Order: sequence, then structure tokens, then C-alpha cells
Amino acid sequence: MGRDEEPTLFELSAPGRSAASFRSTGVPEWAASELIPPGWLRDEPTPVAEVSERDLVAHFTRLTHRQYAVDLGAYPLGSCTMKYNPKACDEAAALPGLADVHPAAPAPLTQGWMELLSDLDTILCRITGMHAATLQPAAGAAGELTGLLLMRAWHEDAGRQRRRVLIPDSAHGTNPASVTLGGYEVTQVPSDDRGCVDVAALRERLDEDVAGIMLTNPNTLGLFEEDIVEIARSVHEVGGLLYYDGANLNAILGIVRPGDMGFDIVHMNLHKTFAVPHGGGGPGAGPVAVSERLAPYLPGPRPVRGGPDGAFTWERPARSIGRVHGWHGNALALARAYTYILLNGGDGLQRVAEAAVLNANWLRHRLRGSYDIPYDRPNMHELVASVQGLKKRTGLRAVDVAKRLLEEGFHAPTTYFPLIVDEALMIEPTETESPETVAALGDALERIAREAEAEAEAGPEAGGVPAAQAAPRTTPVGRVDEARAARTLIPTWDARGS
Ligand SMILES: Cc1ncc(COP(=O)(O)O)c(C=O)c1O
Repeated sequence: MGRDEEPTLFELSAPGRSAASFRSTGVPEWAASELIPPGWLRDEPTPVAEVSERDLVAHFTRLTHRQYAVDLGAYPLGSCTMKYNPKACDEAAALPGLADVHPAAPAPLTQGWMELLSDLDTILCRITGMHAATLQPAAGAAGELTGLLLMRAWHEDAGRQRRRVLIPDSAHGTNPASVTLGGYEVTQVPSDDRGCVDVAALRERLDEDVAGIMLTNPNTLGLFEEDIVEIARSVHEVGGLLYYDGANLNAILGIVRPGDMGFDIVHMNLHKTFAVPHGGGGPGAGPVAVSERLAPYLPGPRPVRGGPDGAFTWERPARSIGRVHGWHGNALALARAYTYILLNGGDGLQRVAEAAVLNANWLRHRLRGSYDIPYDRPNMHELVASVQGLKKRTGLRAVDVAKRLLEEGFHAPTTYFPLIVDEALMIEPTETESPETVAALGDALERIAREAEAEAEAGPEAGGVPAAQAAPRTTPVGRVDEARAARTLIPTWDARGS
């Protein structure tokens, strides 16, 4: 097998090898067949790869060396915010007093955990300008659904049957999905030529059938919705609620608060804003904070100082929508975010936002000469560039730039999103990258554009299509058919079929 190919554990397997040997449990063989109902027993044992510890560690270490990771370099994935996570947060979350506690342990034995959760609730409310929060939702999308269920409960309690929720056309795909799951219909609001919500079009769509609007501010073009106060007033006038998608909260930390902008419900992506590791699908944390009038509907139980001598007890809010998580949320993700917030302090969080915005604006200026910038005005923590002009001149597409960037030692930015920009590159350098790294990213992106222009100038006889269309050529895995991989997903290895 060549160095480029990594065998599966089953291919490395040889009978009798094992990574660790455990003492017998002392449970006799006959007991298993007596205690386990017959229908539950397998006819044949499940195949397990038999590998020595040495081979096992080498296998996984080789695999990690083939990966790009946020610990290796910049990961400018716009909207997803993949920033470096301080190791101190992992260390705090690994403390046995936190990590080894069962979530079902009774309140008198888990006062420390409950205090941490209650403190985090208070801090997140202070950061967002809201009244109370639930820490249960396990990701941003789970927070969105929770928020919509809160919106529904609040309207229904007042006897209002409303059917529609407004969403701008620049919104993240989870927003319309959550609206549908929450039992509402989506009404799209177009953006204006500044890249913000078209307020006139919004007003045309507002009536007493509207339950609310979902917005992120800054929006997914990285632009601050300057008419937010007017938007809030118009939605409130028809009795609707404002939902804040907090995936972009790192842009405004310590500077402006969703509550002060007029939002009623806010979800936060702790795995984006507060440096909780984020990748491979989780685990995340998407707490939802609400204004005072919505607090009675929050999921429960919540930790409150309701016991003797101020001890914490679990309480269910009066009109709670119920649980949205089996336990208290992804607790160790919550502990990491809590540590990150305490490490930074209020002034540190504000500097996080300032650095995120500075890095993204610097990069927008840097890319002006080589890419189209469809909304070329001060942006917040991310910027959206377009490869449309380059594509016309050279054949280069956004996907080619993304793949070619891997050869330059950077992770690809988000591509083809938001949907309202053709050949979009959505780039979020994040606050954790140094000026040198952001400059190197700018240089790499410029080099890719220049290379394509030079190839196009040399003419088709000199090589035809841009070289970037074959990228990445230097990574362990070359260009893959992503659409096919997503449509025919094969996530398991069938040892019996091998
Ligand atoms: C703007 C926005 N909203 C919502 C989400 C959903 O968050 P999650 O991936 O945690 O479900 C994302 C995720 O990237 C996002 O960028």
C-alpha cells in the first residue's frame, strides 16, 4: 500500500491482536443468554477490527496529519465562524468536577454545575440585552426551532393564529427550514441595492398574519442592517416578534446588543462566537435568550436559586414549551464558552468584535483589485467577494478558487452563499488570525486571480482551462465529486462485504 493510501482498521486487522486487554467481568457465559431476551442476541458476533494499540495509534495519527484543522492554520469559512479555540477552555471543561458528573445527579450534589449554568445564562443575557435564557438547544438550528416554538406559544396564548414568518433573501438556509419545522410559512423579503432588508418591501408584506421576522445582524453579506430600529418598529406595530439569528454575534460583542435593537428572541452560537470547537457536526450549543414577556415560555427545567439558603433548584417556567434537549444542553460546550467569556472579560469581548471587523475590512480592501466586491462598503466580521468577473474573463469559478486556496495552505472560504451573490466567496478571517496571516490570505487569493488572468491572456493554445480547475493537487485527496458524495453517502464500512 502506497504512503498516500491509508488502510481501514479492518484491513490492518489480524486475528488475536488487541489494543488493550480487560480483566474478565466475572459474568459467566450462560448468564448472558439467560438475561438477554433471545430475540436481542445476534446469530453471529459483530466483526471488530483486531489491531494492536501501536498500529491503532499510528493509523489515527496518520489520518490527523492528512487533515486541515483550525489548529493548523486559518479557516476563513464565512457564516460558520471557525476560529481558533483557546486550550484553556478545553482544560476547564475537562476538570473532573465538571466532566465526570452525570446529568441526572440530584441538585444537592451538583450545585457547582448549576451555578455555572445560571451564571452563563445571566452573562449571555447581559451580552445580548435580554431577560432570561435557556441553555438547552444543542446548536444554532436547534435554537432557531426553539425560538419559533416560543413565538408560536406566545401568539397562541393570546389567542392569535398567525401563519407567516418573514425572512430576508440573504438568510442562512436553516432559517426557512426552522420556520417550516415550527409550523409557519416563509415569506421572503428582498434585499435592496445596499445589501440590507428592503424596508419598503418589508412593509408591503406586513399584516396581522405575520408572527414575526428572523434576521441576523450583521446579515450574511457581513453588513449591518442600518434600518433595524425602523424594521423593529414596523414588525412590532403588527404584533409580530423579532427573532435574532446570533450566528454573527462576534461582530457586535460589547458594542451593540440585539435587545437594544428591538429583538425579542435571540439565539447564540456558542460554537462560533465563544470559541467552542465546531466541526464535523458538533457538539454545539445554541442557547436562546428572550425578553421579559417571553420568559415564562422558556424550555425547562432551569437552574434558579429557589432552595433553602439560596441553594439552586431546577424549575420549570410557568408556561414552558417543555424540553428541547434530553438533559441540560451540551454541558461541556457550555463550560467551554463560560471559560472563554471569563478569560476575555467584558473589554476583551469588545476587542474580539473590533479585531474581527478590522480583519474583514482589511481583507475587503486588499481584494478590491482582483475580485468583485458586490457591496463595497464598510462590512462587519465577514465580507462577500464574487468571482463573476473573473469567470467571464478567465473561466475561473468560485469552487476553483476555494480548491486552489487549499494548495496555498488555507482552508477554503464558504462558497456560493449567500445565494443572492453569483459565484460568491464568503470570507471570515475571524479575530483570532494575526495581521500577517490575514495578509498572507490576501496574497494567496490575489495570486490565484492573477494566475488565472495570466493563463487567459496566454490564450487557449497555451493550456486552455485555468490550472486552478485541477486543484487541489498537493493535498492527500484531490478534487472530489462533492455533489455525488452528498447524494450517495456511504458512511460505514461493511467488514463482511470486504
Ligand atoms: C447565519 C447562520 N444561522 C444559523 C446557522 C446554524 O447554526 P448551526 O450550524 O449551529 O445549526 C448558521 C450556521 O452556520 C449560520 O451561519
